[in-house]
Parts: sequence; structure tokens; C-alpha cells
Amino acid sequence: MSDQRRRNTVRLSLPDFGSEVEVEAGKTVMEALRLAGLALESECGGRATCGTCRVRFLGGAPAASAEDKLLLDDDAVAQGWRLACQTTLTDDCRIALPAAGAGGELRILTEAYGLAEAPPAAPPGRAGTYGAAVDVGTTTVVCYLLDLGHARQVDVVSFINPQRRLGPDVISRIIYAHQGRDNLLEARHCLVEAVDEALAALCAKHRAPLRSFSRITVVGNPTMLHLLRAVDPWPLGVVPYQPVFTEAPAVTAAEVGFRRLAGAELVLLPGVAGHLGADAVAGVVALGLPRHRGLFLFIDMGTNGEIVLVSEGAAVGASCAAGPAFEGVR
Ligand code: FES
Repeated sequence: MSDQRRRNTVRLSLPDFGSEVEVEAGKTVMEALRLAGLALESECGGRATCGTCRVRFLGGAPAASAEDKLLLDDDAVAQGWRLACQTTLTDDCRIALPAAGAGGELRILTEAYGLAEAPPAAPPGRAGTYGAAVDVGTTTVVCYLLDLGHARQVDVVSFINPQRRLGPDVISRIIYAHQGRDNLLEARHCLVEAVDEALAALCAKHRAPLRSFSRITVVGNPTMLHLLRAVDPWPLGVVPYQPVFTEAPAVTAAEVGFRRLAGAELVLLPGVAGHLGADAVAGVVALGLPRHRGLFLFIDMGTNGEIVLVSEGAAVGASCAAGPAFEGVR
């Protein structure tokens, strides 16, 4: 018996990546790939209803399950295709992944196009202090470095939300996070680590000392903000789709896991209800829509779509599952 067998582990080879991962026997292919840092499409969040998580076994294919036969055609099953979320690893195997969902170079929009009349500038803070505004989208994250002393934007960086490997949309991420505290903390950790690293890199680029960094203001749809606070977002995934919270007290960044910017204050803007969140609120306020005469329609065409009708200081809004296509991702 090999050492591997005694440790009850199996080797998963990924020839496309020239790599190999050793995992505990009994894990699903989906779990093993996540441990290897690889993302798979998983539109149903592992409930065996979408078929988007298919992978092809090049060697060591297990017998096809009832779910494989239901969602994959006979030829595909014969060629070694299986559902990664349903296939348990019991022996060494070799696997090929389908082509990545996000093909080509992805450009994330970070510029703002406002009304002719600019919103009022934030009052300057203490000279030599920095802060950040962070927009956490389901698919993309945008981080703005701000010079609070001069109330000006210094730089911006954007990247794909690393939680994407846990599920491509809010519902699959809600399901993943609800499966256990470890999953919830993993969802928070991968996001916080990426934002922390990105902002620290911007600080280094502009010679802004980390100790002068005082505040991080975050907006996002309700699911993103629940995950950031490690609050189980399950109520957002089932009728009547209500958040556990819409407002949250400010905390130190360290309390949610920031390491480099641990001393900063972390502020989450308030959401509204359901999947209408702080990102929509921030958009309406930043454009100053309530102060203008006339009728305005604000549309946030993200993976979680939000739409707000504003007139004479009053507003009504709604949200919808628009999917990631508007952000250039399948
Ligand atoms: S069938 Fe949907 S994620 Fe596997």
C-alpha cells in the first residue's frame, strides 16, 4: 500500500495546467479544484441541476452517476465527462477542464460619467490621511485610493472577484456559504485578502504610508456585504429574499480579516431591501439624483441587476438576476 493510500488521499492530475493536487479521498472534484485554486462554472451551486460544472476524466473515471446521466448525453458520459459537483474522488485520476468562462482580456470599467453638475466634494480630511472606496460586485471588484486630506482620487485598481471560484452569481454563492461556517469564512477571506493586497499595493505605488490609511468605505449588493461580514446570507436566497441586515456599525478592518490595513475603520454603506443594496444607494447619491428636477432611471447592470426610479427626491427600486454576461463573463 502506498503512502498516499495510508493517508487516505488521492492524486488529481491536471495536464492542462501541468500540475497535480493531492486531496483527501471522498472530496468532490469541485472541492478538490477549489483547493487547487481553480474556478469552475457552477451555476446551480452544486445542486445537480445546471450541468455547467462538467469536467472530462482522461484516466481513472468513476462510474457515471444518475445525475451525470440525467444532465450529460450518452456520448459525453462515454467520453469521460462527469459533473464535478457530484463526482467523489476515490482513486487517482487525470482531468481536463473545459475552456475558461471568461475568454480574452476583460476590461473592467472604473471611470465615472456623471451629470453636468458634479456632486458635492467630500469635505477634506486630516492632511496626509488616505482612505479607499471599494465597490464589491459579484463578478468584479473596484478599489479607489483616496487622498482624504485633499478630497481627491489618487488611483484605482480593479480585478475579478476571487469569490467567483465559489460560484458565478449571488445564488450559487449563497448556497456555498450556507453549507458551513468554513465556507462562509473562506468566501470572506478570499475577498478581504484580495482587497487588502490591492490597496496596500496602491499605497506602496504612491508612497502612502499604511499607518496613514484611516478608512475603507465599501458598497456592494447585499450578498457581497453579508459575506464580507461573514453573516450567513441564506435568507437572501429563499422567498421572500430578505437580508439579515441593511445597516451595519463601522468596525476595524482587522475585525473582518484585513492584515496590511488592519488599523483602518471599515464602513459599509446601508442597503435597502432584498437584493437592492448599498451599491445602488451609492450610485444614486453620488450622481446627486434626488437633488435634480425631473425623472431619472438609475440602472446598475451588474450580475445582480438593480434599477432605481428617482423623482423629486423620492425613489423606488427593484433588483433582478441579470447574470454575469453584462460584465463580459459567461
Ligand atoms: S450541476 Fe450545477 S454545479 Fe454541478
